[in-house]
This record gives sequence, C-alpha cells and structure tokens, in this order.
Amino acid sequence: MGSIRITPSILNADQENLIPEIERVSSTADFLHLDVMDGIFVPNTTYSFDTAKELISQSPLKIDAHLMVVNPEQLAPLYSAAGCLSVTFHYEATENHRSIIRSIKAEGARAAIALKPETPLSAIEELLPELDMLLIMTVEPGFGGQKFMVDMMPKLKSARDFISTNSLKEIWLQVDGGISPETITTARENGADTFVAGSAVYNADSPGDMVDKLRALALAAG
Ligand code: DX5
Ligand code: ZN
Repeated sequence: MGSIRITPSILNADQENLIPEIERVSSTADFLHLDVMDGIFVPNTTYSFDTAKELISQSPLKIDAHLMVVNPEQLAPLYSAAGCLSVTFHYEATENHRSIIRSIKAEGARAAIALKPETPLSAIEELLPELDMLLIMTVEPGFGGQKFMVDMMPKLKSARDFISTNSLKEIWLQVDGGISPETITTARENGADTFVAGSAVYNADSPGDMVDKLRALALAAG
C-alpha cells in the first residue's frame, strides 16, 4: 500500500505557543494538520487566514490544511498559494468541487476532499481520479478528543478497494478523528495510509515519541 504518513493536529496543542508545539513533533512527523473552522460549517472557530498564513510561513513542517468552512471557493486557493503541501475542503460545503480542486492545484498544493461520517463514498467516486487525497472523517468534524467511529471502517475499506480497483494508487487515504495507539491498527488494516492524530499526540508526555509509536503500530499492521 506504500508508505505511512503521520500528521499531528495542533487543534488541542497550546495555542499561545504554536511554533514550539510544532517543534516538538518536527523531527518525527511527516507534516502538520491545521484545522481551520469558521463557526458556520462547524460550531467552533479557529484561525483567521492571516494567522494561518503566518503559521504556514513559520512552521518547520509543511502544512496539511483541513478547511471546515462553508463555501471554500475563496479560501482553498488562498491556502494553496500560502504554501500548504495539501488543502482539504469538505464535500458537504460546496457544489463546485471540480473548480475548487483545479484552483488548489493551480496554486501548487495537493487537492483533497473530506467526507463527514454521514456522507457516502458514492458522493465522490467520480471526483476521485482528480484528487490527490481523500479524507474519511472518523468523528463528526468540529472538536478534538472525540471517540473514534469504528463504524466508518467499511467506508474506509470501500475507498481503499475503489482506489485499488481503479488503479488510483497515487491517491493518499487519510483518516481524522480519534486516532490513537488503540485505533490506528484498525484504521491501517482498513486501508488508511495517512493519519491525523491530535489529542493522542499532544496529551502524550512526549508528542514526538508518540508520533513514532503511532507510525510503528501502523507499519506493523501491514
Ligand atoms: C476534528 C478535527 C481533527 C481533530 C483531531 O474536527 O478535524 O483534526 O483535531 O483530534 P483528535 O485526534 O483528538 O480526534
Ligand atoms: Zn482535521
């Protein structure tokens, strides 16, 4: 299935000291997951674009931006142009999927779509060949520290099967929500190759070591 990527989320890190918090995982993580929330698509609000832009430019790790915002048409290409490695928007937040994918790619980032738990895989099957990554949410978006939804595993497995059957091997398959040493093996066995982990990493005594531990568990699962 190729390599494993571990992407810590700083949603529950110390928000007053984000660069030092990122430095705690910068030697072990692949890149950093930035949760952008607008208070409309989800109840929480996190970073303004200006704040995020500064973080993106200062971060020692490349940024994987997860946009939990309505109408991502404007923001998605801005995050790409700001230097993100990857920009993810929600399927449920727009009807202009193809043009947003194109606008993200045109500014240089990888383009990804996220599916909320209730959104079926069939919604994006036609779009999948245009994507660089698909994010299967394993919690309802909006908050860190929620319980992993094991009932998302059939959807994850179907996504992996669809990618294999259609020879779309270059597409990364990401899971986000409740990933921990207890759940990462199941997520890997069902086909994920890119793992977001927020509270498991930042509640650990050593966030950097926790990233290593998660990677070792995922690799051991195949
Ligand atoms: C939830 C966010 C997640 C969150 C993950 O809406 O998209 O990235 O930070 O946090 P944990 O790993 O604690 O579930
Ligand atoms: Zn996220």
